[in-house]
Amino acid sequence: MVNIDKIKESDIGDILKLLEPYVKKGIVLERSREDIMAELSAFFIARDNEKAAGVVSYHDYDNNLFEIRSLVVAEEYARSGIGSALVNHVVTQLRERQPQSRIFALTYVPEFFSKLNFELIDKNYFPEKIWKDCVNCPRVDCCNEIALINRG
Ligand SMILES: CC(C)(COP(=O)(O)OP(=O)(O)OC[C@H]1O[C@@H](n2cnc3c(N)ncnc32)[C@H](O)[C@@H]1OP(=O)(O)O)[C@@H](O)C(=O)NCCC(=O)NCCS
Repeated sequence: MVNIDKIKESDIGDILKLLEPYVKKGIVLERSREDIMAELSAFFIARDNEKAAGVVSYHDYDNNLFEIRSLVVAEEYARSGIGSALVNHVVTQLRERQPQSRIFALTYVPEFFSKLNFELIDKNYFPEKIWKDCVNCPRVDCCNEIALINRG
């Protein structure tokens, strides 16, 4: 049975392992142990009994704007609903806190987010995001990620 929980410091090793193959492929941004520690309450882990199966986090940009980040599911659990469960979990948590939340993702899998009530949006909608991470990304001038937003 798969459970989704907030993370503790002791989960960080498993999270780094989950992210690693996708960081290497350039699909998700690298996160350091310190970086995860600093946003511990914004991470959720899916476990199949004790085994780490997936992770997701969010970033709060204030003004009711949140980004889904660091979403990955271990290859062996692909297409078993864990990615959807993780995103739905974050969306529910954020909406309980702030019903007006605007929750976005920058992604190479728009089809996945479309099924979860996210709609396509122009990337220029997100100036904070562009300035915070994109300036340091090697793909800043050739980014082909697609932006989607969930407004509830
Ligand atoms: C994207 C990802 C999180 C999806 O997780 P998952 O647990 O496999 O997804 P789900 O089983 O919940 O998928 C639900 C539906 O989304 C769609 N979907 C899922 N992965 C997809 C993909 N790679 N491409 C296109 N559609 C996809 C499918 O329609 C799927 O339903 P189906 O299996 O009945 O056809 C996972 O493939 C992953 O870790 N990918 C690499 C990292 C990544 O791209 N993260 C997103 C960064 S924003």
